[in-house]
Order: sequence, then structure tokens, then C-alpha cells
Amino acid sequence: MKRKQPSLSLVGAGRVGSALAVALHKQGYRVLSVISRSGPAAVALARKTSSPRASTQVVDVDRSADIILFAVGDSDLAGAVRTLSSLRGLKLKTSVVLHTSGVHDAGILAPLRKAGARVASFHPLQTFPARTGSARTGPVLRGIPFGVDGDEAAVTTAGKIAGDLGGRVLMIDPQFRPLYHAACVFASSYLAAVLNAISGLSGSARLTGPWTEIFGPLMTASMENLVRTGAGNALTGPVARGDVATVGLHLDALEKYAPDFVPLYTVCGLEVARLALSGNRLSREDFDGMLRVFRGAVRTGATPPAKKRPPVKRPAKNRRR
Ligand SMILES: NC(=O)c1ccc[n+]([C@@H]2O[C@H](COP(=O)([O-])OP(=O)(O)OC[C@H]3O[C@@H](n4cnc5c(N)ncnc54)[C@H](OP(=O)(O)O)[C@@H]3O)[C@@H](O)[C@H]2O)c1
Repeated sequence: MKRKQPSLSLVGAGRVGSALAVALHKQGYRVLSVISRSGPAAVALARKTSSPRASTQVVDVDRSADIILFAVGDSDLAGAVRTLSSLRGLKLKTSVVLHTSGVHDAGILAPLRKAGARVASFHPLQTFPARTGSARTGPVLRGIPFGVDGDEAAVTTAGKIAGDLGGRVLMIDPQFRPLYHAACVFASSYLAAVLNAISGLSGSARLTGPWTEIFGPLMTASMENLVRTGAGNALTGPVARGDVATVGLHLDALEKYAPDFVPLYTVCGLEVARLALSGNRLSREDFDGMLRVFRGAVRTGATPPAKKRPPVKRPAKNRRR
């Protein structure tokens, strides 16, 4: 017979909270309350997870739950914790309190530790773009790491939840938490920035066919090589070869046809040059040449999206020296 699963109270019925609550409900966790700023979201998720209580007020959280899970936005977390902890005579001796923030460690839950709770961070290292936890469109939880730090008992609970979801715990040293989260950003949204540039330039260059099919084989092979042999070893392309003339042609074309992508091209190019120099792929002289061509292209301030920007008259000559 399946052993009795813990009970759960959720604060924050957004993308992450919904996905986790639905997945844990499927694993037999009893969802005792769903709290969210928007009433309809709380009610809808409570219905989905057979929870008897839905509310917009953090103070309504069912405090008898084995686990209280905060899945509110990073900037709302401290306030939500404060609201709960300021309840007169609050006792959470039987509860483990977790939060799903990537950038914050368990310390942000300290006010609830004072009320007797054991606390830990529980950050799913995954992207949750939609507000559904459905199997087809929902995020993949199986096999993912959960970034964790905190009190021993709470870390044990986090490990059990991760295991029930088919994932695993990745212990994070609290002092490096923002660095860990910066790496997550590179792995997800910064990747989106690069993919958006590929898609945009595919259109600007009038390539026929979906950009995913045109660049898919190159992206897949590059990713496989980069993962297998390391970024430095797998580097190819004009920056790694020290080919300043080719990079200059790229920058000219970008400024003329797709100026929005000049900053991204430049920043990525500088990083590739640094990588190539440190791996002895680029001589100091070639590296300095690359720096000169990129420095000439660096703009001050961000370029707004093309549609909203009034037409700008560009100088006939590019700005590189
Ligand atoms: N999205 C991802 O890919 C991802 C991945 C891993 C970790 N995370 C982390 O998980 C956390 C939640 O992210 P998310 O993407 O799920 O955000 P989200 O979709 O915006 O959901 C946050 C939810 O919390 C609710 N909320 C905010 N303040 C509240 C309060 N004081 N009391 C009750 N409910 C409150 C919001 O209500 P309203 O909608 O009414 O404002 C919203 O439903 C964040 O710390 C984020 O960094 C996100």
C-alpha cells in the first residue's frame, strides 16, 4: 500500500505554484489551502487540486499543513513572509516552509523559523512559461535539479518532494546563490535572446523557410560539441580565428539591416574573444584587434524595439575606427 503523503499549503497560484501543486496532488499530496493575490487563480487551482480552501489573503494559509510552499514572485516573497510571520501567536512547529525563488536563499524565510518552522529554499531548475501544469504543454519536472539550502529537516523534506516529482536535490551554498541564479538565466532567457537574434537575422537576410529548420542542425551540433568538449575547445567562427575583416563585414551589415542586434553581437563577440584568448586560440595581438573592432561598435544605451522607434538617419560611414 502507498504510504501517506504529506499535506501542503500553497501561497502563489502562478506558473510555478500551479505546476508544482498539480504535480504533487497527482503524487497523493493533500493540498489544504491555495492562497493567491488573484481570487479566480486561487479558486481555479484549489478546484484542480481538490483543495478545500482558496483565499487571496496569506493569513488564511492552513497552518496545519506539513509543508507551506511559497511560490510568489521574487520581489513579493519577503512581504508575503512578513505578513504571515506577523500573525500574533503564530506557531509553525510541525511545518516545513519552502520557497521556489532562484535568487533568494533560505534566509528570507527566517521570520517563519522564529515561529518554529524548519525552512529551506526549493528552486525548480526549469522554465515554466505557461500557467498550466498539463502534461502536454506543462514544464518537465522529471529529472530536473531543485536548488536547495536550509535547515536539515527542511532539506530532507525538499529531497522527498524532489524525489516524488522524479527530480533531485542540488545543494547551493547560500553565498553563491545569486551566481547560481545568474547561470540559470544564461541557460534559459539569455539563450532566448540568442535564438531571437538567429530568428530575426534569418528574416532580415530573406532566408526562405523556418529558421529553426535552417539553423537547427548547426545549433544542435554546436551544443553537442560545446557540452562534450567544453566551450573553449569547441569554438569555431571568425572571432575565435581572429578574422577581424569578417567581423567588420558582419557589423557593417548588422548596422545597415538589423541594428537592434549590434549590441548582442558585440557583447557575445567580446566574450568569445576572451574565451579564445584564455584557451590560446587567439594571440594577444589578434585579441587586441578584435577589441578595437568591437569597441568601435559599442553603443551607449539600449536600442528600443524597431517598431516603436522613430526612423533614425544613420551616418553613411560606420563608427568603427
Ligand atoms: N517561471 C519560471 O520559469 C520559474 C522557474 C523557477 C523558479 N521560479 C520562481 O518561482 C517564483 C514564482 O514564479 P512564477 O513564474 O510562478 O511567478 P508568477 O507566475 O507571477 O506567480 C506568482 C504568483 O504569486 C502570486 N502572489 C504574489 N504576491 C502574493 C502574495 N503576497 N500573496 C499571495 N499570492 C501572491 C501572484 O498573484 P497575481 O498573479 O495575482 O499577482 C501569482 O499568482 C519566483 O520566485 C520565481 O523566481 C520561476
